[in-house]
Amino acid sequence: MNQASIHRLVAAQLKQKDADVLFDLRLAANLPLIQNLFSSLYPDDNHQGHFTKLMDLLSKLYASRPSELKKQDLKRLDSGNWYQSEKIMGMQLYVEHFNKDLNGLKEKLPYFKDLGVNFLHLMPITTRPSGENDGGYAVNSYLQVDKRYGTKEDLLALTSEFRKEGIYLMLDFVVNHTSNEFSWAKKAIKGDKKYQGYYYTFEDYTIPAEFEKTLPEVFPETSPGSFTYVPEMDRWVMTVFNSYQWDLNYTNPEVFLEMLTNLVKLTDLGVDVVRFDALAFLWKKMGTISQNLPEAHNLVALFRMCLQVVAPGVILLAEAIVAPTDIIKYFGEDQKMGNECEVAYNASLMALLWNSIATKRTSLLYKSWDHVPPKPVDCTWINYIRCHDDIGLGYENQLIQELGWNPDMHRKFLLDYYCQHLDWSPAKGLMFMYNPKTGDGRITGSAASLLGLEKALELKDDVLIHHAMNKIIMLHGIILAFGGIPLIYAGDEIATLNDYSFRNDDSKKEDSRWVNRPLQNWETISNLDDKDLPQSKVYHTLQKLISIRKSDPVFADNNSLSLCHTGNDHILVFEKRGNQQDGLLVLCNFDENAQVIETGWIKRLGYFAKGDPINLVTGEKLVMKSALLEIAPYQLIWLKRD
Ligand code: GLC
Repeated sequence: MNQASIHRLVAAQLKQKDADVLFDLRLAANLPLIQNLFSSLYPDDNHQGHFTKLMDLLSKLYASRPSELKKQDLKRLDSGNWYQSEKIMGMQLYVEHFNKDLNGLKEKLPYFKDLGVNFLHLMPITTRPSGENDGGYAVNSYLQVDKRYGTKEDLLALTSEFRKEGIYLMLDFVVNHTSNEFSWAKKAIKGDKKYQGYYYTFEDYTIPAEFEKTLPEVFPETSPGSFTYVPEMDRWVMTVFNSYQWDLNYTNPEVFLEMLTNLVKLTDLGVDVVRFDALAFLWKKMGTISQNLPEAHNLVALFRMCLQVVAPGVILLAEAIVAPTDIIKYFGEDQKMGNECEVAYNASLMALLWNSIATKRTSLLYKSWDHVPPKPVDCTWINYIRCHDDIGLGYENQLIQELGWNPDMHRKFLLDYYCQHLDWSPAKGLMFMYNPKTGDGRITGSAASLLGLEKALELKDDVLIHHAMNKIIMLHGIILAFGGIPLIYAGDEIATLNDYSFRNDDSKKEDSRWVNRPLQNWETISNLDDKDLPQSKVYHTLQKLISIRKSDPVFADNNSLSLCHTGNDHILVFEKRGNQQDGLLVLCNFDENAQVIETGWIKRLGYFAKGDPINLVTGEKLVMKSALLEIAPYQLIWLKRD
C-alpha cells in the first residue's frame, strides 16, 4: 500500500471532510518518510534549520494553493488510481507547432474530442534563451510563460477550460538544470557565491577532469564533455546536457527548497501531471556515471512525498530513458514502493517495438519483457512509439547475445536500417549523435517516415504504402492495449512525414530531433473525409481503436498483462485480463509476409467460447483454416473474451 492509498483511507474515515484537517493528517502520515529521505540527503547535524524551513514551507505552499484545486485534489485522491483508467488517452505536442499559441490550442479542443484525446503533454512553454534552447528545455524560468505562447492568464484560462472539459494537463518540470540565463545563473556569473553554490562550479579543471573519467556524454556531437568554462565567472560549471544547461546542485538543501517551491507553484497553475525531466541525472558522484544513483531516487521520493502533502491530486511522471531494470526503480522500491513516480515512460517497450519492426522478429521483445520485474500495482506506464526525442538503442547486450546476435553488429544494423544506409529498407530516418569513438548512435524521424510511408509515397508503391499504414496502426494498437496511458505524438494520428525545414534554421540545424517535430497539418485534417488517403485511413482507424479502448475497462491497467508465446518468431501476442471472465488478446504480425499460428491454445484461453471471435479492429470474424490462423502482414487483431 503506498502513501496515497493511506491518505485515501484516512479521508474515508473522516465524517467531516475538512480540507485543512486532511492536510494536517497527510503531513503527519508522510512526515516520517519525509524526515528519513531528507536526512539521508542532508544529515541532521548540519541541516536541522533546513528541515524546519521545509516544514514552514509546506504549510505556506498549502495555504497559497488555489481553493478550486484543493477541492479537486480531494476528489482525485478519492477516485483512486485514475491514471490507470482505460478512459485516459494522451497526446504530446508543441504548442507553437500545433496551432500558434495557447489560445490557438484552446480553439482546437474539438479536434481532441473528435479523436478521443483527453490528456495533453504540452512541450515547454516557459521563457528560454532566444538562440539555442533545446526546444525550451533550457529554462529561464519555471513559471513565466514565454510570450510566443501567450500570457499566464492565457494558461490559467486554458487549464480552467481543461478542467471543465475533463482534459488532464501534463507539463515539464526541468528539474535537473536551468539555462545559463536563469536568474540564479546570472547572479553566479556576476560572482555571487551563494548562487555559484546552486550549481556545480569549480575554480579549475581538476575536479571536472576526475568526473569526466566516468561520465558518459549525452550529446557527444554538439556538446562533448560535461563541463563548460565560463570566462565571465572564471569558473567551470557542470553542463551534462548542452553547454547552456547548467546542472543544479542538489547537495545544497537551499536548491531543493527553492525547486520544491517552483514545483508546487507550477502545479498551482492547474497542472495534473508533472513530467520530471531527466530525473536519472539528479545526483552526481565522482567515480560513477552519475545516473540512477540511490540519492537521486531519495530526492525524487522526497519531492513526491512533499508534493503529495500539499497537492495530493497531482502525480509525477518519470522521464528516465534508461535500462528496463533501472526504469522500474522510479516507481520506488522497498519503503519507497509506489511513493516515487506514479507513471514512467515505457521506453523499453518503445525501443523493442522499433527493433521488432527492423528485424521483423519479436524474439528480443519477448526475452527483454520477461526480464522486466513487475511494477508496483499502483503505478503505470506511458506507452508510446514516438516522442519529440530520438530513439536510443538501449537493449541489454546479454539478451542480444543469447539470441545469437553480436550486440555491436546488431546496433549497427538497426542504425543502417533506419538511417538510410540500406537500399532495401523502407525507413527514412536520420542519425542522431553518432559517436565515431564508440560506434553508438541514435535515430530520429517521424513514425510514418520510419515505418516506410515517406519512401513508399515517393516510389508510388501501393503495397509499400499499405504496409506502412498497417505498421502505423499496428504499433498504435499495441500501445493502446498494453495497459497504461497511451500517448500519441501529435501528427502521428495523420501519418505526418519528416519535416526537413530545421536544416535552414541555425539554432536547430545541428539537432536532427527537429525532423520529428513537424507542424500540425490542418490542411490534411480538413481532408480527412476523403477516406482513400492513407492519412485518413490512419486517423479513422485510430479514432475507432481509441473509442473501443475508452468504452471497455479491460483496457485499464490492472496489472494483468502477460505475453503469450506462439512459436512463430514474427508474431507478438499478449493478453490482458480484466475482472472475472473479461480478457483481451492482442495479436500482431511484424513480418511483410502472412504468418500462421496454431489456435488450440487461444481456444483453451476461452476466446472461441461463443463461436468464431470478431477482430474488434475490423469488425470481421476471424477465419480459421484447419485450426490455423493466418495473420496478414502487419495486421493487428484485438479479440475480446467475455
Ligand atoms: C529530456 C528531454 C529532452 C531534453 C533533455 C534535457 O530528455 O526529453 O528533449 O533534451 O531532457 O533537458
